[in-house]
Amino acid sequence: MEQFTFIDLFSGIGGFHQAMERLGGRCVFASEIDPFCNAVYEKNYHMSSDVDIRNKRAEDIPAHDVLCAGFPCQAFSKAGRQDGLEDKTRGTLFFEIVRILKYHRTPYILLENVRNLVSHDSGRTWAVIQESLKELGYRTTKEPLILSPHYFGIPQIRERVFILGKYDKDRVDEPLVVDFGTYRTKASNSIYDVLDESAADPCYAISDYEEMVLQAWDEFYQGIDLKVIGFPVWADFFRYEGSLEGMPAWKAGFIRKNQKLYRDNRAFIDRWLKKYHDLEEFAPTHHKMEWQCGTRIDSLWDGVIQFRPSGVRVKTPDCFQSLVAMVQIPIIGKYRRKLTVEEAARLQSFPVDDKEDPFLPDENRQQAYKQFGNSVNVEVVRRAAEQLFGEKLPAEKQKRRAGEK
Ligand SMILES: C[S@@+](CC[C@H](N)C(=O)[O-])C[C@H]1O[C@@H](n2cnc3c(N)ncnc32)[C@H](O)[C@@H]1O
Repeated sequence: MEQFTFIDLFSGIGGFHQAMERLGGRCVFASEIDPFCNAVYEKNYHMSSDVDIRNKRAEDIPAHDVLCAGFPCQAFSKAGRQDGLEDKTRGTLFFEIVRILKYHRTPYILLENVRNLVSHDSGRTWAVIQESLKELGYRTTKEPLILSPHYFGIPQIRERVFILGKYDKDRVDEPLVVDFGTYRTKASNSIYDVLDESAADPCYAISDYEEMVLQAWDEFYQGIDLKVIGFPVWADFFRYEGSLEGMPAWKAGFIRKNQKLYRDNRAFIDRWLKKYHDLEEFAPTHHKMEWQCGTRIDSLWDGVIQFRPSGVRVKTPDCFQSLVAMVQIPIIGKYRRKLTVEEAARLQSFPVDDKEDPFLPDENRQQAYKQFGNSVNVEVVRRAAEQLFGEKLPAEKQKRRAGEK
């Protein structure tokens, strides 16, 4: 494909940059305020991204064919504040995009955000974004475009909303049509597609304590009569004899299920509790286990495990849950170790294995996990961009821009 130019706003470690380069794009401007991301960007793309977009005049940004932006999630995410576009400090970052588009009339735009953006503030945030883009002369898809790496065979569930826009001011009411073909289901993916079989650096091994906790819960699962556990197992309530009155119904129901589990398996559970000293050496949150595998696996050591505040969670090895700024790095039961930085990179389709031009992650592991957790999946962006550009990216837009300015 002929070369085109793009700008990379809120550029992080360059998920969009990777995808656009794969399609023949050349980056002419990047903007990011996190110094750790800036260092990774410079190291990989040999250009500075150290710009706070709020301080950059649109006229000082080079002309470009594609504007890419994964604007920050905080104001839009369920986890964060719900102020959205009304939030002066964060919500206005979308208006930085508007400001640039107003000046440059960029032919193509590719935006990404958390899925929750669509329902945020009862749909008003989404409506405002759509309205603003329309007003600027952009055609977009009729429905919000939700994409996830696992739809394309990459074993990570990470549903995000993408906004594809094409500057076409006389046809803003005609929606853009996209067709991605058939998506994969979760179950037809496998985490082993991105995992290294060979022994990873010992720093990724689980600790003796973690091994003990997981071994205990695996023995528990093997020993009880129930194979599909549809509720969180909480050892503290096995022998609970107090009153359930006055408790919220969900809690009382959950305790009853744990009491019944204990009654039905008393001899085994008594032996198990004795062997593990009534779980006295376990942190309180590790007294709980959430089995979310149905009967798809029959040992905890075949699952993907996370030590979460809600307990030890076990999932099937088809997909990883969305990498987020990772504190609870998933454990791969089969290998008795944590997901490595390289594997996290593969989940986001960053080319860490490229022999000629490998992506170089942050050398600080915690930073690297966080950066991959915040980034966009490269392959998903590439697929979305292909839909947006269709066959005719370079020549068409060059002509139009020359005619307009
Ligand atoms: C969701 S992340 C985008 C990640 C990126 N798409 C990638 O692939 O790595 C949003 C980024 O916006 C950056 N950011 C927040 N405010 C900014 C500003 N005023 N100017 C530039 N970047 C900003 C944050 O530091 C954060 O890294």
